[in-house]
Amino acid sequence: MAEATTALITGGAGLIGSHIVDEALARGWNVRVLDSLEPQTHAEGKPGWIRDEVEFIHGDVRNQDDWDRALAGVDVVFHEAAYGGYMPEIAKFIHVNSYGTALMLESIRNNDLPIRKLVVASSQAVYNEGAYTCDGHGHFYGKTRPVSQLEQGDYLMHCPICGEPSRPVPTDEAAPMGGENVYAISKADQERLAISFGRATGLPVTALRYSCTYGPRQSLFNPYTGVIAIFCTRLMNDLPPVVYEDGKQSRDLVFVEDVARANMLVATDARSDGQVMNVGTGNAAAIGDLARLLAEKLGKEIEPDIPGEYRPGEMRALISDTTKISELGFEARTGLEEGIDRYLDWIREQGDVGEYFTEAARRLRERQVVKQARSGTTV
Ligand SMILES: NC(=O)c1ccc[n+]([C@@H]2O[C@H](COP(=O)([O-])OP(=O)(O)OC[C@H]3O[C@@H](n4cnc5c(N)ncnc54)[C@H](O)[C@@H]3O)[C@@H](O)[C@H]2O)c1
Ligand SMILES: [Zn+2]
Repeated sequence: MAEATTALITGGAGLIGSHIVDEALARGWNVRVLDSLEPQTHAEGKPGWIRDEVEFIHGDVRNQDDWDRALAGVDVVFHEAAYGGYMPEIAKFIHVNSYGTALMLESIRNNDLPIRKLVVASSQAVYNEGAYTCDGHGHFYGKTRPVSQLEQGDYLMHCPICGEPSRPVPTDEAAPMGGENVYAISKADQERLAISFGRATGLPVTALRYSCTYGPRQSLFNPYTGVIAIFCTRLMNDLPPVVYEDGKQSRDLVFVEDVARANMLVATDARSDGQVMNVGTGNAAAIGDLARLLAEKLGKEIEPDIPGEYRPGEMRALISDTTKISELGFEARTGLEEGIDRYLDWIREQGDVGEYFTEAARRLRERQVVKQARSGTTV
């Protein structure tokens, strides 16, 4: 009998990594996890969902020795560990995401490791803005909306030719890369480092650009990332979700199990080698509507708070064009309503949930990661 595949899943204690762990175990693979248990995400230490059959390495992607240890004897790597969200740090994003990935590649090369496949977690954040269409001028890729526009309370994407408001359409992988915030820059680095290393060395690499992922195990402690988790913790504490811009900005919300399945699919299909692929549902939800839907499902009569704040460099709308990965047979199976119900079932089992957003929001305003539009000028 052939030896079972051994997978290393970095960030395997987190939302997406832990579901990839489950997928890999279900296939009978040996699973190793490298995770630092980032305190912002895992405020109570090692989560209970890390199963006993997993070989857990409590280590850091910023440490070469941890990589050497974690990568020894591995066939397939899923690199999910990252520092993510809208935080005021700059160096830490680059250190964990860019430098951490660079160390992984050095470890593979210096030890001449016979890795068969590397899947790296990228993000929709690498796009500047999504794709749009203007009734008069057709398809275009949006450019980052300048702060001078946002501070007027004008959040729309205007056609670069006629200046009229345009409509978002699904964004394909050919859209220009170039996110305008530190997280986005570091995710673009991760993706490009891995893909170019693969081209140079022949290592099969796939980078997956996930859209906004949610589901059971999304940290309830991290107020900087995970819009559904943040809104739920606010509502469960009888506070309104704080919605940026005008609430009509939209996201393609994809259920975590679908993202984990996409990972297994590309790990085992050589047609994905050397490719960058979107993972999403192809549908988008307005964030204001999402806040209302969550309130309704939680039985709270609480309207979202829309104070006219915005985050410079954040994209207005993103709908993933999933044509490329669907050609490998991928389809997101869990719709938003079902996914939210499953998430709420999980969150209700977690007992009392804390509310960390208020304090975080104050810090973000202070550091200008969140800014206030001039009042009375909303268009
Ligand atoms: N959740 C999303 O909406 C989303 C969207 C696009 C891309 N991504 C990417 O997917 C990947 C997984 O994200 P997630 O949502 O599961 O996040 P998560 O925060 O739930 O999990 C990340 C895990 O990485 C670990 N980690 C952080 N820094 C580390 C370090 N220095 N060394 C070792 N481990 C470290 C954390 O402890 C955590 O368990 C990340 O690369 C993220 O950038 C996520
Ligand atoms: Zn136009």
